[in-house]
Amino acid sequence: MSPKLLEVDSIEVFYGEFQALFGVSLSVDKGELVALLGANGAGKTTTLRTISGILRPRRGRIIWRGKDITDTPAYKRVEMGISHVPEGRGIFPKLTVYENLRVAAYTKRAKEKFSESLEMVYNLFPRLRERRNQLAGTLSGGEQQMLAIGRALIQRPELLMMDEPSLGLAPKLAREVIFLAKKLRDEYGITVLLVEQNVRLSLKVADRAYILETGRIVMEGTPEELEKNPKVREAYLGI
Ligand SMILES: Nc1ncnc2c1ncn2[C@@H]1O[C@H](COP(=O)(O)OP(=O)(O)OP(=O)(O)O)[C@@H](O)[C@H]1O
Ligand SMILES: [Mg+2]
Repeated sequence: MSPKLLEVDSIEVFYGEFQALFGVSLSVDKGELVALLGANGAGKTTTLRTISGILRPRRGRIIWRGKDITDTPAYKRVEMGISHVPEGRGIFPKLTVYENLRVAAYTKRAKEKFSESLEMVYNLFPRLRERRNQLAGTLSGGEQQMLAIGRALIQRPELLMMDEPSLGLAPKLAREVIFLAKKLRDEYGITVLLVEQNVRLSLKVADRAYILETGRIVMEGTPEELEKNPKVREAYLGI
């Protein structure tokens, strides 16, 4: 059996003395759309940051295509195909849309395909093409989120990790951005790990989901399984 694309194996992550993750394990297969769900402070961002190499686990391992990358620096993981749309978007407000996309393409992998990738991003988000010379800080919230996703896509990821892309968007846009995760998987073949607080919408697009509570995975399953679970219904779906 070929290894999973990504395996997170029992990671324990600390901020100083404060322990944020207590043995979190999850896996993502090639071509899957997996949701990591949970309330404020559950440890979702911490998990993504550990996968992308911004944080180091004190214990546990990150495995990419069967290879231990726990000690691999963050920029090399981008080169290997792991890209991250950070919480709060992480764009450069004083750079234009185009410049934001260009500086995101710092890896060899991204530079080689830059013009092709730029076309792909502009075709996916025509609004960014129209506004390519506009300063990113003056874009609307929804446009900034498109740009943040564009910056990750320009790196030609195999695995795209999105940290609460719907945050701060009006309901219609929030829905669109969550369905965009599905479009990227279905039409572009990108594997997606989607972090969201919007459990209801995320379960509409995900193949599988994990629920994180105070640094521990407390449930895992298909959307059908989770939607049937009384605890999920009460705590996350408000039914
Ligand atoms: N830089 C930091 N220093 C100290 N504690 C931190 C730091 N970043 C996060 N934490 C703590 O770690 C825990 C997990 O935070 P994390 O940001 O991973 O949660 P989250 O699930 O992404 O929440 P949200 O949905 O609000 O973004 C929280 O208790 C948080 O206060
Ligand atoms: Mg977060």
